[in-house]
Amino acid sequence: MKPRDRLRIAMQKSGRLTEPALDLLNRCGLTFRQSRDKLFCFGEGEPVDLLLVRDDDIPGLIAQGVCDLGIVGRNVLNEFKNGAGNGAASLTEWRPLGFGRCRLSVAVPQDMNYNGPEDLAGLRIATSYPALLGTWLREKGVDAGVITLAGSVEIAPKLGTADVICDLVQSGGTLVANQLRETDVLLESEAVLAGPETLPTDERGDMVELLLKRLDGVIQVRESRLLLLQTSRTSLEAVTRLLPGGPQPTLLPVAGQPDQLMLQALCAGEVSWRQLEEIKKAGAREMFVLPVEKMLA
Ligand code: PRP
Ligand code: ZN
Repeated sequence: MKPRDRLRIAMQKSGRLTEPALDLLNRCGLTFRQSRDKLFCFGEGEPVDLLLVRDDDIPGLIAQGVCDLGIVGRNVLNEFKNGAGNGAASLTEWRPLGFGRCRLSVAVPQDMNYNGPEDLAGLRIATSYPALLGTWLREKGVDAGVITLAGSVEIAPKLGTADVICDLVQSGGTLVANQLRETDVLLESEAVLAGPETLPTDERGDMVELLLKRLDGVIQVRESRLLLLQTSRTSLEAVTRLLPGGPQPTLLPVAGQPDQLMLQALCAGEVSWRQLEEIKKAGAREMFVLPVEKMLA
């Protein structure tokens, strides 16, 4: 294959991961001259281009070296690795990306009597993930028929082409709509940055390292909240103990109120209403939770 000096990232052309993936790359400072209907997006600032493809094709494109990295669901990546496609073993998850969360689960008709995986013996299971399902069935020592379908897996029991299914579940709405209930979770999934275990040794490798650094910053900021509040010195210890994630707060005096303090803390992750109410009960007031836009430590 011809050597390339530009990094190429594969991602889903249209689907649940497309918008958040593009948004994440934009936040990393990557912009593209894009015609969304086309397969290829040329990177404007940095030497990073996008290839927009079917998500099932992404691991293969990386394994073949057509793309250097891919943004893809862990479900798709692991299916490829379990299916032992060419070069599958050398693919790895470089970063979990925190969006597109879903799970790969077994679901059975609501009225079926189900006590555990052993009840699947002899049944036909429809799925788009035959490799992951096959591995799980082997682990459980269950002998069942696996029927591979490209889509519309959830209607297979009603059509009589399968008894139960193994499919992705996000809200659970699809299962309810088809009178199915989730019984076993095979895999917790989210979008990941996938790539070969060993990165290219040329300029592309440097670009990957830069991208990983920016990604880490973007992900950290996205999950951080700045908490501001006022507390009396006597309540300080109780309030501090309740700060989500146990951050080290910064304390500032309040002019004209020597017994009061302003507290500022960077919390990792959401700060919920319930947590705020608890902190308030401990003696805090004037509380603010702010998103963090940029951070440079
Ligand atoms: C997935 C999955 C289910 C549905 C689950 O399909 O195959 O059908 O989402 O989501 P829910 O639990 O929120 O209802 P998707 O819509 O991504 O399309 P596909 O089946 O064509 O891949
Ligand atoms: Zn579906």
